[in-house]
Amino acid sequence: MNRAERPPTESGAVTDRIDFAALPDDFAWGVATSAYQIEGAVAEGGRGPSIWDTFSHAPGRTHNGDTGDRACDHYHRWREDIGLMRQLGVGAYRFSIAWPRIVPDGDGKVNAEGLAFYDRLVDGLLEAGITPSATLYHWDLPQALQDRGGWTSRETAEHLAAYASAVAGKLGDRVRQWATLNEPLCSAWIGHLEGRMAPGLRDLTAAVRASYHLLLGHGLATAAIRAGATDPEVGIVNNLSTVEPATGSPADAAAAVRMDGHTNRWWLDPVHGRGFPADMREVYGVELPERPGDAETIAQPLDWLGLNYYFPAVVAAEPDGPPPFARQVRRPGVPRTGMDWEIDAGGIEALLLRLTREYAARKIYVTENGSAYPDVVTEDGTVEDPERTDYLHRHIAACARAARRGAPLAGYFAWSLMDNFEWAYGYDKRFGLFHVDYATQARTLKDSGRHYAELIGSRPRRG
Ligand code: NOJ
Repeated sequence: MNRAERPPTESGAVTDRIDFAALPDDFAWGVATSAYQIEGAVAEGGRGPSIWDTFSHAPGRTHNGDTGDRACDHYHRWREDIGLMRQLGVGAYRFSIAWPRIVPDGDGKVNAEGLAFYDRLVDGLLEAGITPSATLYHWDLPQALQDRGGWTSRETAEHLAAYASAVAGKLGDRVRQWATLNEPLCSAWIGHLEGRMAPGLRDLTAAVRASYHLLLGHGLATAAIRAGATDPEVGIVNNLSTVEPATGSPADAAAAVRMDGHTNRWWLDPVHGRGFPADMREVYGVELPERPGDAETIAQPLDWLGLNYYFPAVVAAEPDGPPPFARQVRRPGVPRTGMDWEIDAGGIEALLLRLTREYAARKIYVTENGSAYPDVVTEDGTVEDPERTDYLHRHIAACARAARRGAPLAGYFAWSLMDNFEWAYGYDKRFGLFHVDYATQARTLKDSGRHYAELIGSRPRRG
């Protein structure tokens, strides 16, 4: 997309008009969370340990040594949290199921108490008129499986399918929308190559094998959900980025192609029957643990694609770094969020159009989009977060533009319902539409949440 077509990205007054008429009548206005980031109660209900318990408890791995032990205490406060969703007026909620609550020892024995928690949650959502959207794997692998090799082992892909069968059998009469994996890129590359997330490895071979088994697990789990649930819609959630070279040099242009392969094509091509990109196989130089039939398993037709979008990639060549031998460059003068991530709403539009044109997506959900800022609750009990409001509004406007230009966009899930455990950043980074005071567990609606509620409530309805 050329620069001139993009909306302005300076923070400031919300000016972008949202073209509501471009969105379908049954568009899902939602919010998203994930289990380890909000639930807490890590030793309750028969839950076993996950790799994030291990990682966050190891010294020096997370900001401040923060862990998800208590998080937002959602395990006990889920009814109140459904109330927050009602306050926003959302029609859909994307959450993840904690694998270690369902199969605590990783050995196949299913924990009925774990299933019962999500059973109650789903019923509560439906009673509130909110459509549940369940993600199977949002990074909390049972530690017992990690002890047997985790994602570097083929067995883990098979275990994911067994776990998928168990939850589909229990919830599949009421949950229609299923995602197999959330951001496998982070599980594989950040968890096994960069070491900044669980399991904290820095091993290229492990990372490439993990990426393969994650996608194989996706395929096997897709089949398991289809077999166990009533008329399910199955998809996968990827965090994709627009990629631009930092300069006009041939080296940076080549780095951008590699970064695109690493971030986007490696995850999209195999599930669309195109196999793993040949150029990236060469860049990694690691043999994939392929077996006959795997390519077809990975490439089952999907009902929808999930896009998590936060920021664009602007990259320069870095020959001495790890694959893809490219590094993110900081452009001066560009507005950024509290994560130090560049703001570019045009990126979400470009990616929605790319999924439509290059991958013939039938249905797309923006499964996450949001921004972190250091919010405070003022004395009068409000949270003023104009930058988040601006970010949210501009990105939704960009989504509607993509829909107008042909993207089959079916919903938008804001990340996140409430502040939560931001992985290695701990509780320092706040993405919520509700502020959470972790000492008291008080939830306070932020101005951005109010804006989202107004926007959902004020949209023109046809018919
Ligand atoms: C994507 C991840 O899925 C989510 O867990 C995380 O909190 C957000 N990005 C923000 O970094």
